[in-house]
Amino acid sequence: MQTVLITGCSTGFGREIAVRFLAEGWRVVATMRDPSANTLPESEQLRVLPLDITEAASIQNAVAEAGAVDVLVNNAGIGWLNAVEGTSMDVVRRIFETNTFGVIAAMQAVLPGMRERRSGVIVNVSSSVTLKPLPLLSVYRASKAAVNALTEAAALELAPFGIRVAAVLPGAAPSTRFGTNARAQIAANGGFHQAYADFTQQTLARMQDAANGPVTTSEDVAEAVFQAATDPNTPRLLPAGADAVAWFEGR
Ligand SMILES: NC(=O)c1ccc[n+]([C@@H]2O[C@H](COP(=O)([O-])OP(=O)(O)OC[C@H]3O[C@@H](n4cnc5c(N)ncnc54)[C@H](OP(=O)(O)O)[C@@H]3O)[C@@H](O)[C@H]2O)c1
Repeated sequence: MQTVLITGCSTGFGREIAVRFLAEGWRVVATMRDPSANTLPESEQLRVLPLDITEAASIQNAVAEAGAVDVLVNNAGIGWLNAVEGTSMDVVRRIFETNTFGVIAAMQAVLPGMRERRSGVIVNVSSSVTLKPLPLLSVYRASKAAVNALTEAAALELAPFGIRVAAVLPGAAPSTRFGTNARAQIAANGGFHQAYADFTQQTLARMQDAANGPVTTSEDVAEAVFQAATDPNTPRLLPAGADAVAWFEGR
């Protein structure tokens, strides 16, 4: 039985990715900051472990507990919407610690075992906002564009060891807690920068419109992640969701 370790399984995409791998008969190590938040159905194939992607020791402990990991899914992440000058360096660091450095740290934790076994797959959950520049998404987009760049180059350096690396680029998914969490963080960190009020209104209106059109579901993302994990012909950057596919094709 193959083992997948997934980060950020308390909710949203991560939870759905865990459900998908369980349904496919995998052994699933579902990690989350607070395991008491677990809502996954009980299963003999399931192990729930604590993992905060910003804490090196937490990552190392979870990987050591997990045993041999065939697939790592770096899903944990946080959103943000604000002008560059409306984003304090503390917030910038928190975004990069979570969305970018956490991905690298988790890769570093599983790679020795994968290299030894000469097999493994790493799937990084990025974002379709990396495909198209939009105002106020500068910092979040930079944190995810770095994940794309990392993925593409790491795929080359790890291929000789039989290890594949791919990034899944989801479109906008209003069904997860992502937007609500981001709005709470923006409010807790001084709100939107007033000098960019026009962009703020336009961007929020565009998001509202987009939510009424084709959006991305957690199932779309779980499908793309499962494909990336199991199909060696998966491209290194794979859009997930109708809106993301449209952006990808129009890029
Ligand atoms: N929803 C979208 O529109 C969208 C679009 C493109 C890409 N994405 C990306 O998709 C991924 C999943 O997002 P989602 O939509 O499922 O959002 P979500 O519902 O907010 O879930 C995010 C998950 O990440 C976890 N997390 C946050 N900080 C963490 C940390 N320091 N260590 C470990 N886990 C942490 C959260 O855990 P807690 O419960 O502990 O906070 C939660 O389980 C993220 O990487 C996000 O950037 C989302």
